[in-house]
Parts: sequence; structure tokens; C-alpha cells
Amino acid sequence: MNEMNKPYSAACDNNRDPIFNELQKLLRNSATVLEIGSGTGQHAVHFARGLPHLSWQCSDLPENHEGIMQWLDEAALPNTPVPLSLDVTQSEWPESDFDAIFSANAIHIMSWNSVKALFRGISQALAKNGLCVFYGPFNYNNEYTSESNARFDDWLKNRNHESGIRNFEDIEQLAHDAELILQEDITMPANNRLLCWQKQ
Ligand SMILES: C[S@@+](CC[C@H](N)C(=O)[O-])C[C@H]1O[C@@H](n2cnc3c(N)ncnc32)[C@H](O)[C@@H]1O
Repeated sequence: MNEMNKPYSAACDNNRDPIFNELQKLLRNSATVLEIGSGTGQHAVHFARGLPHLSWQCSDLPENHEGIMQWLDEAALPNTPVPLSLDVTQSEWPESDFDAIFSANAIHIMSWNSVKALFRGISQALAKNGLCVFYGPFNYNNEYTSESNARFDDWLKNRNHESGIRNFEDIEQLAHDAELILQEDITMPANNRLLCWQKQ
């Protein structure tokens, strides 16, 4: 928590503009976006402010809602509805056909079973032709793309053995099973990627 008692992530401050530059292009025709694992709510405020043509729907586990609401209340934007309580493993996902689903830095935190549930949920909640956009570190052919990602993966696994940087090819298989076709794989600063799929 910072001096205003809101949750705060320095990483979000660092990565929000590079992510925004890509979202601005990708989401130009989207009206509704569901964010999975909104965390502090910082990304939501930044992206919703910069993309006023769309509604940015935060979601996360209930324990993060108070913090997200602090960010949303302070910003008082017209396009950030109250966060949804969404654990990706729950069987019932929101009914809405979202035009896009966005998630940053969440799939290396969740267990692999949760990642599989995430893709099942996405296939229910995303409209036909909708976009699924993930930001974060990925391995390719089971290889780290940098030393710093290898160290980060060790840190993640020591914290929780079910966490870990995901392999791009494994994620692509889940995406394929969910009828998502890869559109973009964009190099981002600090050895991160921004992946974008479109639902068939
Ligand atoms: C490292 S934080 C990333 C937060 C934010 N997206 C960011 O980029 O700063 C991981 C997020 O995933 C969420 N998360 C973990 N497991 C989840 C689950 N099973 N369902 C939904 N969200 C989950 C956490 O609550 C947390 O907000």
C-alpha cells in the first residue's frame, strides 16, 4: 500500500505505456473488455482512461476488490463498472459475450490446472471474432528467453511450486482447443511478450 493506502505495483507503472501502445491498436474496434486478474486496478484505470470508447470490466479474486475499488473510485471514470468476482476455476463465468479479454502477469501465478480452466472460461465468455490478449513472460520450446526470466521462474516456483513461466507452445495448444487463432506475438520490454488470439 502506498501513502494513500491504495495497493500499488511499480511494475504496472513501468509496463502500462508499452502495453497501452499495443492495446490502442488491437482494441480500436472493441466495445467491451473483461480483464482477468486485475490485481491493483492500476492497469484498468490507465487503459480505460486512454480507451474511452470501451467499457473496461475488471475481475479478480474477492480479496483484491477493495484495492481495485480504491483505484476505480478515485479515477471516477464512466467506463469502469464495479469489478466482477471471478476465480478462473469457477464453473460459471459471466454470460456476456465480451469483445476482448485481457490479462497481464496472471498465468505464471496460477496453477496449470487453473490456466486450463482459464481457457475453458475464455471460450465461453468471448464473442465470436473477439480478441484474447495476454501480457507477460513466456518460454519458447521450453527455453527461457533471458537469464532474468530464468531467475524469475525460480523465484516463482520457490514461492509456490504450482506457479511458473508458461511455455508458449503449451499455451498455443490450449488456445487452439478453445478455437483461438494466434494473430500477434509482440516483443515487449524486459523480456515480456504480448500475445493476441482471435476467437473463430
Ligand atoms: C501478479 S498479479 C498481476 C496483477 C495485474 N494484472 C498486474 O499486471 O499487475 C496476478 C493476479 O492473478 C490473480 N489470480 C491468481 N489466481 C487467480 C484465479 N484462480 N482466478 C482469477 N485470478 C487469479 C491474482 O489475484 C492477481 O491479481
